[in-house]
Amino acid sequence: MEMFNNLEMRIKRFVIWFFGLSILIIIYKLSIIESDVEKLQFLKETLFLNKEQLQLSHHQLLLVEHLYQNKVGGGLPTIYAITPTYYRHVQKAELTRISQTLALVPNIHWVVVEDSEEKTDLVRRILNDSNIIFTHLNAKTPPFEQLKDKDPRWKKHRGVEQRNAGLKWLRDHLKVNEDKGVVYFMDDDNTYSIKLFKEISKVKRVGVWPVGLVGGLNAELPILDEKTGKVIGYKSGWKPDRPFAIDMAGFAINLDLILTKLQANFSYKMEHGLQESEFLSFFTTKENLEPLASNCTEVYVWHTRTEKPKINGLIPDLEV
Ligand SMILES: *[C@@H]1O[C@H](CO)[C@@H](O)[C@H](O)[C@H]1NC(C)=O
Ligand SMILES: *[C@@H]1O[C@H](CO)[C@@H](O)[C@H](O)[C@H]1NC(C)=O
Ligand SMILES: *[C@@H]1O[C@H](CO)[C@@H](O)[C@H](O)[C@H]1NC(C)=O
Repeated sequence: MEMFNNLEMRIKRFVIWFFGLSILIIIYKLSIIESDVEKLQFLKETLFLNKEQLQLSHHQLLLVEHLYQNKVGGGLPTIYAITPTYYRHVQKAELTRISQTLALVPNIHWVVVEDSEEKTDLVRRILNDSNIIFTHLNAKTPPFEQLKDKDPRWKKHRGVEQRNAGLKWLRDHLKVNEDKGVVYFMDDDNTYSIKLFKEISKVKRVGVWPVGLVGGLNAELPILDEKTGKVIGYKSGWKPDRPFAIDMAGFAINLDLILTKLQANFSYKMEHGLQESEFLSFFTTKENLEPLASNCTEVYVWHTRTEKPKINGLIPDLEV
């Protein structure tokens, strides 16, 4: 018994010594490293190496990696992707598809806004499983704007409440000139190439690019002047003479602009089909748009709407 206690004591003493020594070595290393970035990198690597002892979760490690990338200057700006979503049979499939695309994007912060009275477990689980830095919000569309089953999709404004809630979160939690980022409205029913996010990372003020399979065309796109390379018009299936005939999936805006133009939001008062155009008018002019995706010659995002399935029966207690 005595010997046993003795052994336990020794092990405890060894562990304390071991940790004490490790901390001293870390402090010594940090004191001889010159640059902040190297210090941060060393700290990060130490945390990753000791993640089991420190019981760091996958999400905590992700956050550390993210902070490190942000600090490393040359790092990419964070892309804040605002995704309105609502319950229907295909919701889980749609969110699974895009969450797995976003898992391949290192600099993403996914802001998911549910059209619901309360956040749902379905979305909570998808986010928790996603390996992505996320913010989970909800904002219910008022009854007068809800789309009835038989209504055509264009009849009501969709996503107004949710996009505004996403913008409000950014404005409440991020700081002008400090947080480096780009804001993108990422609907849950499109298909996105990971190449798109490399383009979004290049946005200085407002970037634009083609969107496939929309407006009755194989793609809608900005028309560029051959000499200057600037946007002079749009190929669009509907009202190409709008100030910005650009689909919601076809532009992204610098975070500082979003944080300083506080009056810019979406509204039910905007004419149907003019949400994008009116929103963009807060930030820029046609001449100042930045054409991306190889001068708007590549398509990296498509309106692939999932067909509404005919469901005649429900298996109980199964989340699909
Ligand atoms: C969240 O994910 C972790 C592992 O990634 C899992 O252990 C945990 O049960 C999940 N929580 C919920 C609420 O789904
Ligand atoms: C885009 O066009 C401009 C001029 O119109 C040209 O200078 C530039 O090299 C082009 N960029 C790409 C990626 O094709
Ligand atoms: C949008 O901004 C206008 C002011 O420009 C404001 O009156 C309105 O309440 C805002 N709407 C929302 C939903 O935030």
